[in-house]
Amino acid sequence: MIQAGNVRQNIMTNEIKDTSVFSTDVSFDDVYPREIRRLSKSHWTSVEVAKKAASFLAEIPGSCVLDIGSGVGKFCLNAGHYYRDSHFFGVEQRSSLVEIAKETQQLLGIQNVTFINANFTQLDFSEFDHFYFFNSFYENLTGEQDWIDDYIDHSESLYNYYTGYLYKMLETRPPGTRLVTYQSLFEEIPSGYQVVENDLAILYNCWIKTE
Ligand SMILES: C[S@@+](CC[C@H](N)C(=O)[O-])C[C@H]1O[C@@H](n2cnc3c(N)ncnc32)[C@H](O)[C@@H]1O
Repeated sequence: MIQAGNVRQNIMTNEIKDTSVFSTDVSFDDVYPREIRRLSKSHWTSVEVAKKAASFLAEIPGSCVLDIGSGVGKFCLNAGHYYRDSHFFGVEQRSSLVEIAKETQQLLGIQNVTFINANFTQLDFSEFDHFYFFNSFYENLTGEQDWIDDYIDHSESLYNYYTGYLYKMLETRPPGTRLVTYQSLFEEIPSGYQVVENDLAILYNCWIKTE
């Protein structure tokens, strides 16, 4: 089990004031425990992608943005740092990761982020304006060597269930809803969403619901 307490080994003070921590993946990941840093390349959003996605999702000040499967909070914390006029929510099924996300939030002194320990299927999507999705269900299709841990069930049927559920939730959202998908193959995207910006090399897509 990943231990949240290790975060404190990386810092000298109770709150990190130096904003250069947000400038590179190396400096940001250094705030996390070693076992979390090890997972960064494959499981957590890079600081560059987080900043770019947040600029699209928080274009309208006062937006409530949900990260579906927020892990240790790397997207939400970077987004919250750069876009103080919006609020970023992260929902994450693994309580150990939520603990680390909350500790890191405290260390960074970020106010406009809320982490929720739940399965995303338990949330009311009407409470959020826009959504971020870094192919969170893909872990169900990989071998054990690519899992974050083995404390949860992994299966193809879970992948299909979550993908179908997210599709239905996104379908209920009103026109104007914004969505960023990263490393996703679009199985969760209903037909009313149009791509308005993308970077094919990294499977990064910005969508707006038009109908
Ligand atoms: C690829 S990581 C992305 C983490 C974060 N969004 C980021 O970009 O740094 C996906 C996360 O989604 C979580 N997840 C997967 N299925 C979930 C579900 N049904 N409900 C909540 N969280 C889920 C996993 O536990 C994992 O931490």
